[in-house]
Amino acid sequence: MSLGLACLDCHSTADQQAAAGIPSVRKCMLCHEKLAVDKPGVQKVRDYSARGVEIPWQRVYGFSPEALVHFRHAPHYQAKIDCATCHGDVGKGTVAVLAVKHTMGTCLNCHRQYKASEDCASCHY
Ligand code: HEC
Ligand code: HEC
Ligand code: HEC
Ligand code: HEC
Ligand code: HEC
Repeated sequence: MSLGLACLDCHSTADQQAAAGIPSVRKCMLCHEKLAVDKPGVQKVRDYSARGVEIPWQRVYGFSPEALVHFRHAPHYQAKIDCATCHGDVGKGTVAVLAVKHTMGTCLNCHRQYKASEDCASCHY
């Protein structure tokens, strides 16, 4: 979704909280009450909203609970690391796909470059 919408318009907690947040269908309706109502995709969105149901998005990013990882967006936002560094060019599609596979190696590679924490406890519970 290009359209000049900023990532933070929808993922409005990525700058402050751990999770970037998936927007509620109510947020979509701020625009789609009026905008592009003839598009089939938008009709689906409006249908969920009319039924008072959230859109059942598939999560694409995340770690298995056993890995006991706690990732937080906020320190990365503060360090001015672009969303695209970790998620690829999300703006190009309408449905999110896994563009970048995050492993302990990718985290640590960058942490070494930036002299960020390599302490086990900063990433694991
Ligand atoms: C700030 C306004 C705004 C918000 C919020 C917004 N959209 Fe949109 N959306 C647009 C605009 C503008 C278009 C493009 C309309 C056009 O191409 O005529 C669009 C287009 C779409 C389309 C049609 C794409 C196509 O070309 O068929 C879908 C589907 C869609 N939005 C889904 C969503 C969903 C889901 C949300 C909530 C997560 C959302 N939108 C939130 C402004 C918004
Ligand atoms: C119009 C609202 C909207 C905008 C603007 C938007 N997103 Fe999203 N994003 C969503 C919704 C809704 C989902 C969940 C749907 C999905 O997974 O396809 C999502 C999913 C994602 C995911 C996958 C999350 C997961 O684990 O499933 C990432 C990563 C993401 N967005 C990053 C971005 C980035 C980076 C930008 C800016 C380039 C951006 N988004 C702009 C609404 C938006
Ligand atoms: C340093 C790498 C990194 C950067 C930079 C980053 N993300 Fe993420 N993002 C991740 C990881 C890793 C996850 C999975 C986290 C988890 O499951 O605990 C994730 C998950 C997400 C999700 C899924 C929902 C959620 O809240 O967990 C969304 C949406 C998302 N990111 C959007 C963004 C946006 C928007 C930006 C830019 C403001 C951004 N990300 C910047 C690594 C990053
Ligand atoms: C592209 C570079 C990059 C990637 C990839 C990256 N990080 Fe970071 N991370 C940083 C930077 C830069 C900081 C901020 C360091 C500072 O403020 O001193 C940071 C900070 C953190 C912090 C806060 C550390 C503290 O001491 O408070 C945690 C936790 C963290 N990252 C976890 C992760 C995890 C987990 C991953 C992999 C999923 C990851 N990071 C991937 C660059 C990155
Ligand atoms: C910068 C963040 C970061 C640091 C520092 C870090 N890890 Fe990890 N670690 C991760 C991530 C992210 C995963 C999950 C990778 C995946 O799901 O592929 C992981 C996975 C693991 C796993 C595998 C868990 C499983 O069951 O899948 C072990 C074991 C582990 N880490 C141990 C450590 C130890 C020991 C240290 C300290 C020497 C450490 N980690 C430091 C981010 C980090």
